Amino acid sequence: MTRYIVNGRKPLFGEIDISGAKNAAVAIIPAALMVNGICRIENVPQISDVTMFFHILEEMGASVRTINKNTMEIDCSRINKAEATSDLMRKIRASYYLIGAMLSRFGEATVAMPGGCNFGGVRPIDQHIKGFEAMGAEVEVLNGMIICRTQGGLKGASVYMDVVSVGATINVMLAAALAKGTTIIENAAREPHIVDLANFLNSMGADIRGAGTNVIKIRGVSQLHGGTYSIIPDQIEAGTYMAAVAGAGGDVLIKNVIPKHMDCISCKLREMGVSVIDYEDSIRVSRTSPSRKTNVKTLPYPGFPTDMQPQISAVLCLAQGTSIISEGVWDNRYKYVDELSKMGARIKVDGRTAVIEGVTKLSGAPIRAMDLRAGAALVIAGLCANGTTCIEGVNYIERGYESIIEKLQGVGADIHEEFTPDDDGLKTASVG
Ligand code: EPU
Repeated sequence: MTRYIVNGRKPLFGEIDISGAKNAAVAIIPAALMVNGICRIENVPQISDVTMFFHILEEMGASVRTINKNTMEIDCSRINKAEATSDLMRKIRASYYLIGAMLSRFGEATVAMPGGCNFGGVRPIDQHIKGFEAMGAEVEVLNGMIICRTQGGLKGASVYMDVVSVGATINVMLAAALAKGTTIIENAAREPHIVDLANFLNSMGADIRGAGTNVIKIRGVSQLHGGTYSIIPDQIEAGTYMAAVAGAGGDVLIKNVIPKHMDCISCKLREMGVSVIDYEDSIRVSRTSPSRKTNVKTLPYPGFPTDMQPQISAVLCLAQGTSIISEGVWDNRYKYVDELSKMGARIKVDGRTAVIEGVTKLSGAPIRAMDLRAGAALVIAGLCANGTTCIEGVNYIERGYESIIEKLQGVGADIHEEFTPDDDGLKTASVG
């Protein structure tokens, strides 16, 4: 078992480099399946969700080559079966993008039901299925498999999303890229990673317009060619470190970001009395006086991201005054609240709303991460707390944060991993 040990109350100073975006990477990697040739992908984050996806493609027959730490080459030309049934499929949510990619390339797909972070509620895929059916697929869910068939491939269609869904927008975009005719997605999600996927596909020969608005028009093309593409910086990773500085205090330059993508988070931090200064591709965050309460409502982009809700809540635990959080995307994303309460936070949750009464201090405690962003929130709480915080369940955190320990140590945080001897015999020592 691996745990993070955090000794808090040390302000952060220095620079942090942001990695490639997880949620763009997990859409672009399966899209490589649709490409006739080799895709060289740069700025690939080294995180377990991405590694798992490469293993899934390799099990399917793809060749995946590491060029350097963050550059990979994928060649899917030898994959000739429209099946992804590996057990690994159930370990990541984004594995369901293989449905769109396979339907596009083969006109059929048999894919194991996806896994991913469980916020305590259901994560439906009805909008994905609605899109595939509109394009002529027959979809059946049988024995934990999603089975899609078409007669001679998908046909372009008009798809109206009943809810703004990142996953359904991406899956339908993938499916439509090689379909016959034009597909129009209305009420599409607008997240930066949707634009990044469209840019990736267009750079390989697709014809997609409007990504980043709520109407996306995809003219199907007959094939995609290989090429090189660099993934955008991770908005949520950057936001997490911005929140860490807002919580722990200090002055940090967050490098390799697209400041425009960060506006929804930067504005909230400024409301809280944190200084946030944008440069061309970096953001300087500093806090020297106590932060103030604010209210946060999470919404699809360009609203405040749900994937930053736990982290901003951790910071607000120590802000002056009472803050109200409304979760506008997921039904139950407050599973971390019990853990923060063990550290002295005062939070009351009622349905999708949390009321956070700011306290003057948090105290270190043994706590457990229940999902990726909740885990990031606990790390932030540990950085702000008096004494030592011991965080279990860090495998969740490593799904989405490349080198989190090293990046935080680099700005002066007192955090390290501790491995117990039964950790598969791989990691046996406590490292500083
Ligand atoms: N929804 C439906 N039907 C569908 C799909 C979604 O009702 O067919 C609902 C969901 O229940 C939810 C809302 O629509 O209430 C939004 O879900 P969405 O489909 O946008 O989420 P997702 O694609 O499953 C992605 C990210 C999540 C992030 C959400 C929202 C990936 C791999 N995951 O999930 O990221 O929270 O968008 O922005 O891109 C994370 O990175 O920690 C994470 C969980």
